[in-house]
Amino acid sequence: MPSILITGANRGLGLGFSGYYAEQGWRVFACCRLPETAHALQALAATHSNLTLHSLDVSDFAQIEQLAITLQNETVDVLLANAGVYFDKQDSVFGQLDYAEWELSLRINTLAPVKLAEAFLPHLLKSPNPLIAPLSSLMGSMADNSSGGSVLYRSSKAALNAAMKSLAIDLRPQNIGVLILHPGWVKTEMGGENAPTAVEESIAGMGQVIANFSMAETGCFIDFRGKHLPW
Ligand SMILES: NC(=O)c1ccc[n+]([C@@H]2O[C@H](COP(=O)([O-])OP(=O)(O)OC[C@H]3O[C@@H](n4cnc5c(N)ncnc54)[C@H](OP(=O)(O)O)[C@@H]3O)[C@@H](O)[C@H]2O)c1
Repeated sequence: MPSILITGANRGLGLGFSGYYAEQGWRVFACCRLPETAHALQALAATHSNLTLHSLDVSDFAQIEQLAITLQNETVDVLLANAGVYFDKQDSVFGQLDYAEWELSLRINTLAPVKLAEAFLPHLLKSPNPLIAPLSSLMGSMADNSSGGSVLYRSSKAALNAAMKSLAIDLRPQNIGVLILHPGWVKTEMGGENAPTAVEESIAGMGQVIANFSMAETGCFIDFRGKHLPW
């Protein structure tokens, strides 16, 4: 059975992905900051022996390295770097930017997915069809930015896209694919109540995009409906 490692698996899209792949019989390494309070994920683990919980704060790179050692005998077919933060607030506008929160946004949204890819490279190399799939956002697209604002989030996802595009090129000789995903605007804590897309719809779409992936698409920026997006 294929295996997937998911970060930020306790709620939102990460929880949706965990249930989706657990139901399909995949081996799921579901990672979150506080497994002891991740009740929905615990409930999934109780009914799916193919899903295990792992403690991981992605901003702590020593924890990423330690988890890679703990799972050193495992294969990871899909590395789903899902954990992310949106720190831009109403008053977080030009002139009042919070630089500490910007640095933390970059660490969680940009650096951590790359660090995860580095740490889990040996696990990916054991797979016949390895794939690194970071959750980006259309808000990281410069071509799409007509409304401004959200400087912290937009820049962290744009930088993620740039880094992952390079990884796609650098890892192609090792047959490791990279798929940069936009989940749509989804009803989660981050997306908010007004988001038009349900978690289930977004996950089913991204699940299909992942299932249909071939190396011809490595390094592409694709939404949950399979549409290619502008940088
Ligand atoms: N929802 C949307 O409309 C939308 C649109 C475009 C892109 N995305 C992207 O999709 C991904 C998932 O978003 P979502 O909507 O599910 O967001 P969410 O509901 O806010 O959930 C975010 C997840 O990330 C985790 N997380 C945050 N910081 C972490 C850290 N340092 N270490 C480990 N986990 C951490 C959270 O864990 P805690 O519970 O511990 O905080 C939570 O599980 C993000 O990368 C986001 O940028 C979402």
